[in-house]
This record gives sequence, structure tokens and C-alpha cells, in this order.
Amino acid sequence: NRNVYILGIESSCDDTSAAVLRNGVLLSNVTASQDVHKAYGGVVPELASRAHQQNVVPVVDQAIKRAGIKKETLSAIAYTRGPGLMGSLLVGVNFAKGLARSLNIPLIDVNHLQGHVMAHFIKESDDDASAPPFPFICLLVSGGNSQIVKVNAYDDMQVLGQTIDDAAGEAIDKCSKVMGLGYPGGPIIDKLARQGNPLAFQFAEPHIAGFDYSFSGLKTSFLYNLRDWIKEDTDFIEHHKNDLAASLEHTIVDILMNKLRKAVKETGIKHVAVAGGVSANNGLRNAFREHAEKFGWTIYIPKFSYTTDNAAMIAIVGQFKYHDNDFGRMDAPAFSKVTF
Ligand code: KG4
Repeated sequence: NRNVYILGIESSCDDTSAAVLRNGVLLSNVTASQDVHKAYGGVVPELASRAHQQNVVPVVDQAIKRAGIKKETLSAIAYTRGPGLMGSLLVGVNFAKGLARSLNIPLIDVNHLQGHVMAHFIKESDDDASAPPFPFICLLVSGGNSQIVKVNAYDDMQVLGQTIDDAAGEAIDKCSKVMGLGYPGGPIIDKLARQGNPLAFQFAEPHIAGFDYSFSGLKTSFLYNLRDWIKEDTDFIEHHKNDLAASLEHTIVDILMNKLRKAVKETGIKHVAVAGGVSANNGLRNAFREHAEKFGWTIYIPKFSYTTDNAAMIAIVGQFKYHDNDFGRMDAPAFSKVTF
């Protein structure tokens, strides 16, 4: 009955992260974020790859050290194969392959989105029972994706609906940019929104069939309205910052929850989880709690540190795959596009 130690490596965007699990329990999770992008108001792919190159060895070393093990103890290496920025992925992919080859241990490739959904299964102790049961519904909302996923098993996920244009996080970030706030806009809007009136302004909500999302209309509506209001009051943004943030957040949360409610109703699955960077949002978290109360949902909200990109979620998928002997190939290329 040997212990299984999985090293996870994540480098799909602008965070270099490594984590170690022992029998599914998290021992360490180390992330180096990249501040270089702040000055550009968005992630610059070329700079991201370079920073990953600087960070990957120290971050992995730290994760192994903090886990209190030696690298020779590792059972397998799980890495993010995609989707993400190609240059960023290549750093983690090639490092994982090289390390697996040198230690002569199996390699496990992990889909980044599957990782976000499976973040709910990260255990912080042996008796941690916070994971949802299968099947559950997961609202996956990040800077790059907005999806409603029916999770039948760790390796059987069905996308019920997804955005046909922008992601929710992208819309928040773009609107915050229009307001002249910093990057990323999500946490800034969240903070301002807490002091504003969510019903102060109305913005266009999309009318699309099914479970799909659209956020580009809202973005345009926000921009055009703002332009008109600024014509009448040049300091409009300064005067109404909190109300603008609160109303924008309210509209986005409303759009997200309307389709999610529909998906829960139609599938009859009342175990509902949220994942991805936007799940850090307090308005969205509150809406989840209200729905739980009103509609009898059992909700699963991850810890803040597991919502944004991290290697613990990659390692946990690795743990599942390890038990199914589902190992990756040394010649598997990284992929940039969204697939499940
Ligand atoms: O999952 P994530 O870290 O990166 C991707 O894989 O895309 O998500 C990043 C997104 C950004 O758009 C950021 O603005 C948003 O998550 N975000 C938030 C909050 N914290 C991060 N959006 C709203 N409220 C927040 N508190």
C-alpha cells in the first residue's frame, strides 16, 4: 500500500505554479504571479513565456521542498497540456517531460479547464469531505471562458452552454478598462461594487436560446451609455464609480445565474459548483448563497486560492488519472484551443 505523490505543474497563462499531493491530500501549492503585465493592461504572451522560464525551476523546487519530500519520492508528474497561451504552455510541458524522463516516472497530461472544475476535489486533510458528488453542475467562469458544465465524472464532462463571444471575466476587465481602472479589473470592480447601488443603472442583457452566454452586447451597452453620460458630466465616472461597478456586476451575475438556474431546472441536478477566477467575485458568491436558500441547491464554492490558476487543481486531476493508469505520452504536443 504505497503512498502516491503527484507533482502538478501549471503554466497556461501568466502564473507559474507547482503543487504536491500525497494520496490526494495537498502538501504544497506554490505560485509565482507575473507583475510585468500590469503596465500593459493585459497579459503579453511573449513576456509571460520568458517569466515562466525564470520561474519554473524555483517554483517546482519550492513546492517539493515545502511538501517535505525529495524529488525522487514523486510517483508521477501531472502538467497542463492546454488550453492556454502556446508559449507559456511550452515551458511547463517541456519541463514536466524532462523531469519525468530524468526521474523515470509517468507523465500525466491535464486539461486546464478540467482542472478548474476539479479544484473542488483538492483535499487539505485526510478527512476533508467538501467535494461535490457526481453528477454536479459547474459554472466555470474565468478570464477566458464562461461555461455551464455537467460533470458526470472527473473524465466525463458535458458542456451544456458556453459564451458565443466574450467571457464574463473578459467583459468585467474591458468595462473596468473603459472606466480607467487598473488591471485586472475583476477584483477592483468587486471592491467598488460593495459600496454601490446595483440597481442604479441598467445595461442590456442578451436574449439567446439555450444555455449559451453572450457578453459583448453588455460591453457595448456599457460603453455607449457611459459616453452619453460623460457628455453631460465630464466627471461622471468619478461621481458614480461605485454605482457603475455595482450595476455592472449585478448585470453580469444576473446573466450568469439566469442560465445556470435554467440548467439546474432542466437537468434536475441540484449540486451546483462554481469555478474559475470570476468565482472570487463576492456578488456571484452571494447569488449562489441566495439560490441555495431559495431553490434548495447544495452549493460548492472553492477557496479563493483554488479559483485562479494553480497547480493543485492540475495535480488533483493527475491523481484521478494515476489511479486509472491514464498516462500521457512523451510526444504529446501542447494545445492552445478550448476543448474538453
Ligand atoms: O481563472 P482566471 O485566473 O484566469 C483564466 O484562466 O482566465 O480568471 C481571471 C479572471 C479575470 O478576468 C479577473 O478579472 C477575474 O477572473 N476576477 C474577478 C475577481 N477576481 C478575479 N472577477 C470578478 N470579481 C473578482 N473578485
